[in-house]
Amino acid sequence: MTNKKVAAPRGTLRTYVVTGSASGIGLATKQLLESQGHRVIGADLRDADVIADLSTPQGRAALVQGVTRLSGGQIDAVLAVAGVDIAGPATAAINYYGAVATMEGLRPLLLGSPAPRVVAVSSITSVHPIDEELLDILLNGKEEDALTRAAVAPQVYATTKQALSRWIRRRATGPEWAGAGIPLNAVAPGLVRTELLKRLFEDPATRARIEAGSPMPLGGPYEPEAAAQLLAWLASESNGHMTGQTIFLDGGADTVLRGDSVW
Ligand code: NAI
Repeated sequence: MTNKKVAAPRGTLRTYVVTGSASGIGLATKQLLESQGHRVIGADLRDADVIADLSTPQGRAALVQGVTRLSGGQIDAVLAVAGVDIAGPATAAINYYGAVATMEGLRPLLLGSPAPRVVAVSSITSVHPIDEELLDILLNGKEEDALTRAAVAPQVYATTKQALSRWIRRRATGPEWAGAGIPLNAVAPGLVRTELLKRLFEDPATRARIEAGSPMPLGGPYEPEAAAQLLAWLASESNGHMTGQTIFLDGGADTVLRGDSVW
C-alpha cells in the first residue's frame, strides 16, 4: 500500500515550526534541525522569528499569521515545545491552550506537505496526581472556566500536561490528523537541564520534591539536546506510522511510577 504522505523521500529539506525556540528544549531542537540543513521558524516571547505570547488569543493568532507570512503558507512539521511551570492560570493558558492552538492553528499549513508531522512536549508529570476538576474543564469545557479553576487548583502543571497528552490521544486517529496523513505525538521528558528546571531547583525543598516525584534510574537530569533528538525524529519523514503516543524520555521514571499496570 502506498501513501504519499507517509512514504515521502528521505533526506529532503523541510520547514519546521518550533515554539519555545529561545531556550532549553525548543532551542536545542531548533539548533539540531538547522544543523541538518532544515529551515526552522522559531516562535517565542523573545529572540525568535515570530514573537508571540501563546497565553493569549491575540498571541496565538500572531503565531499563525507570522508563520504563514514567513513560510508562504506551507510547512512540514510543528513542534509545540513552549511551556512554563509556574502556579496558576498562566500555566493552563500556555501549556494546554497555547499548545492546542499551535497544533490546530498551524494544521492547515501542513496539508500541502508530503510528510506532515506534529509533536508536542508533555511531561513525566502527566502521570502524577492531578486536579480532576481542572482536567475535565480543559478537555471538555471553556478556557475562561479553566483559568478560573487553575487559579485555585493544586497540581496545575501536571494537569495541563496530562490534558495535553490526552488531547493528542483523542484526536490523533481522527479525520483531521490520521485522516490527513499527519502523525500526532508527544514527548514526555523527565528532568531536563534547562532554565525551567534551574528556576525550580533554586528552592531546596522544591528540588527535593521534584527529584522524588521523577525518579530516573537511567541517569538523572539530562541535557536538552537528548530531547531534541527524539522530537526531531518524531517530526521527521522517518516517523510514518507512530501516532497518538506520549513517549516517555525520562530515565525510567514512568516505569518506576506506573510499573507494568499500564499494560
Ligand atoms: P525553558 O524555560 O528553557 O524554555 C521554555 C520556552 O518557552 C522559553 O523560551 C519561553 O520564553 C517560552 N515561553 C514561555 N511562555 C511562553 C508564551 N506565553 N508564549 C511563547 N513562548 C513562551 O524550558 P524547557 O525546559 O525547555 O521547557 C520546554 C518544554 O518542556 C515545556 O513545555 C516544559 O513544560 C517541558 N518540560 C520540561 C522539563 C524540564 O525538566 N525542563 C520536563 C518536562 C517537560
